[in-house]
Amino acid sequence: MKKVLILTTIFFAITTFALAYILLFTGTEMVKNEKDTRITVKYAPDLRNLVLSEMRDYLEVISEIQQGLAEDNPEKIYKAALRQGDASLRDTPVRLLKLSPLPCKQMGFAGHHIFQAIADSAKTNYKPKTTIKQMAALTNNCITCHRTYKVASE
Ligand code: HEC
Repeated sequence: MKKVLILTTIFFAITTFALAYILLFTGTEMVKNEKDTRITVKYAPDLRNLVLSEMRDYLEVISEIQQGLAEDNPEKIYKAALRQGDASLRDTPVRLLKLSPLPCKQMGFAGHHIFQAIADSAKTNYKPKTTIKQMAALTNNCITCHRTYKVASE
């Protein structure tokens, strides 16, 4: 009996030391990332914050549109998509437009036009399949821009 106790104690002591060693002294290696070939666009901190908070809102609008689709609720889709539709372009600071490369601006505008199209078709002639197709075009535009650009503060 005593022998079993001693053996178990030794076993747990070894396990504890092994785990402590792993937690304290390993796992510090750098992660190998794929080569980042995106173009850096430099914005002043206020503009960078504006762009990134717009981006987070895009994702929220997309989520609301998807909820609208799931609930078969075109009014919800209309309201969500309209928030990032063509009218939202009026609030874009001219400084931001000046600093953004042309293809970046074009993809930015294209996104707002698709949000507007989603709102319009949900309002006038709601067909879930149309909304889903428009969402595919929209997210494809997000992806193309994300593959091309990244933002830095200057
Ligand atoms: C005009 C180009 C462009 C378009 C279009 C675009 N994005 Fe972005 N987005 C960016 C850039 C640039 C960043 C910053 C990436 C970086 O610096 O690593 C970003 C970052 C983000 C982030 C992270 C925000 C944060 O707080 O860090 C989210 C979320 C995001 N985008 C969602 C979207 C969604 C959803 C769409 C489509 C509806 C979209 N974006 C369309 C360029 C774009």
